[in-house]
Amino acid sequence: MIDSHCHLDPGVYGGDEGVDAAIARARAAGVSRMLTVGSGYGFESAHRAVAVARRHADVRCAVGLHPHDASEYTDARFAELLALAAAPEVLALGEMGLDFHYDKSPRDQQRAVFRAQLRAARAARLPVIIHDRESAGETLAILDDEAAWEGGVLYHCYTGDRAQMAAIVARGGYISLPGIVTFKSATEMHAVAREVPGDRLLVETDAPFLTPVPYRGKKNEPAYVTYTLAEIARLRGEDPAALDAQTTANTARFFRW
Ligand code: NI
Repeated sequence: MIDSHCHLDPGVYGGDEGVDAAIARARAAGVSRMLTVGSGYGFESAHRAVAVARRHADVRCAVGLHPHDASEYTDARFAELLALAAAPEVLALGEMGLDFHYDKSPRDQQRAVFRAQLRAARAARLPVIIHDRESAGETLAILDDEAAWEGGVLYHCYTGDRAQMAAIVARGGYISLPGIVTFKSATEMHAVAREVPGDRLLVETDAPFLTPVPYRGKKNEPAYVTYTLAEIARLRGEDPAALDAQTTANTARFFRW
C-alpha cells in the first residue's frame, strides 16, 4: 500500500525521531511506500521533505509552493525550489493550485504562482499534484490553458463533485481520496469513490490532518491510510487486497516510482 500524500514534517511530528517513528508504524501496518509533500508548511518545508526522503528508501517526495504561501513567492525562492526539484528523491511538483476558501494569499498571486509551477513542471518533465478548494472550476481552466494534462495531473484530497471528477478523468487526470471518505456525512465523496474509474484512483492520508475513522480527531499519520482504503473497497464492493494492488499500481505509474 502507498500513502500517496502525507506531510511528514519534523515540525509536526516532534522532530526527525518522531517522523521516523511514524514511518516505522506505517511499515508495520503494511504501508510500503509514502510520498511526503514539501508544500503548505512554509517555504522551508520543501527542504525538509527532501531530507526525510533522503533518510528513507521507501519515502519519496514532492516540492512546491502551496496557494496559501503564494505571497511568499520571490524569483530567488522559485529558483531554489526548482534546483531542489532536480534531486532524484523528488517525483512531482506540488501541491499547487488555488484555494479560494481560505484566501490566505491574494488570488492574483495564487494564479500566477500556480501557472509558473505548471510551466516549470513541464520543463522538468515532472507530474503535478493539485490542491483545489472552492475555485469554481478555475483550477481546471488553468490546467487546460497551460496544457498541463499530458505531463500527469493528480487532484489530491479530492473534495469536488462527480461532474468535476468526470471532467478530470476525461482529460487523463487522477483522483486521490483522503480519510474524509470514512465520515458518514461525506455523501458526495462516497459517490465519487464508487464511480471513479479504478485505474485513476489513489489513496492518501494528507497527514497530519483529516484523520479517518476510527482515529478521527487524533493526529493523522501514514499508517491510517489502511482505513481509507478499506472504506473505499467497501463502498465499491471490491476486495480490499485487489483494490490495494490496483491503487498501488496507479500510484507507481503516476509518479514513475
Ligand atoms: Ni497536503
